[in-house]
Amino acid sequence: MRNITCHTILALGALSPLCLARTCETIIIPISATAQNRVLPESLTISSFTSELLSSIPNIPPTTVSAPVNISAVYCTPSPNPRSSTLQILVHGVTYTSSYWDGLDTGDGTYSWTSYANTQGYATLAIDRPCNGASTRLQSIAECQIPLNADVVHHLVQAARGGTLPLSTPRTFNSIIIVGHSLGSVISNFHGQIYPNDADAYVLTGFSPVLVNGLPAILGIGLTPASAGLHVGYVKIGFEAGQRFMFYHGQYSTSLQHADFLRGGTLALGEAATGLLGQLPVPAYTGAVFVLNGNEDTVFCQLLPVGSLLGMMGHCDAGPSQGVQALYPNARAFSLFDVQNTGHCLNMHHTAQQGYEKVHKFLEAQGL
Ligand SMILES: *[C@@H]1O[C@H](CO)[C@@H](O)[C@H](O)[C@H]1NC(C)=O
Repeated sequence: MRNITCHTILALGALSPLCLARTCETIIIPISATAQNRVLPESLTISSFTSELLSSIPNIPPTTVSAPVNISAVYCTPSPNPRSSTLQILVHGVTYTSSYWDGLDTGDGTYSWTSYANTQGYATLAIDRPCNGASTRLQSIAECQIPLNADVVHHLVQAARGGTLPLSTPRTFNSIIIVGHSLGSVISNFHGQIYPNDADAYVLTGFSPVLVNGLPAILGIGLTPASAGLHVGYVKIGFEAGQRFMFYHGQYSTSLQHADFLRGGTLALGEAATGLLGQLPVPAYTGAVFVLNGNEDTVFCQLLPVGSLLGMMGHCDAGPSQGVQALYPNARAFSLFDVQNTGHCLNMHHTAQQGYEKVHKFLEAQGL
């Protein structure tokens, strides 16, 4: 599939459209995942989630879980492709799929991380995480956990470096940038704990170390069984005003927000339950880290444990974003940007391009 995306940019003092030629293909990557998951009660339901339960998960002993997983991913490469040895691997958050990174496939470049990255010369691999979208729907509590997700990311990095991704034109990548959003950033943090030598840079969006403060509100967004033939441990958001409060703030398209709600993306209880595993220090990691948040993020930037229950918005620039630096004491570079007047799902806001620009300037400065 070849598509041409036009972006309006300021060139030679005049506003003129620039067309980006890029080729995208959907690939299926078979992976034998093996991870140290946590033993969780199979009777877990959304009503058994409390901050106490979630905080205790890191103390539960690990158990080895192995499962074959087919990962569905959209690979896009620009032509020309000046940064031909660098790949961005994009890892979405809960209730989304790879389309989070491409404006929910609306074709509107304003909301497309991949179009922006491709314009800057990067190839992108946006995955449907295990248990989400068109990837294998594993057992939602025992298998769909943060460690298994991180193991999948590790396999993808190895395949990219080794030239074994099933691309129509096989390629080898020497530099890997892992970009997460929300639970995708949590997975990236955990991935760095286990495989500190995999990534040249992490871009953590919708992320801070104080997720625990936002958890009560996540439980208040009316999670209901996803059904559609899925295991009982798959849920979805059942309450649109809750979705809006959690994910949106400031200036955004209400029709995009509504379309987002109607998609009905799922959350597996195992991935939610183990989220705090990906909020820990990563002292062995020595690459670069960039944190990008919507400043009013209600999920990751609540200053008080009860803030989300009281309907308060977040304040990422009052400490939560900066707090990420302490998790990466040996990173060779650290920087952050809080996009003002913006909520948790940054890509869905009118301000999306501000963040894309900051991130890619940082990557460029890192020689990536
Ligand atoms: C992965 O896809 C292949 C080819 O379609 C299929 O044979 C296999 O059963 C799939 N594996 C899983 C775990 O779904």
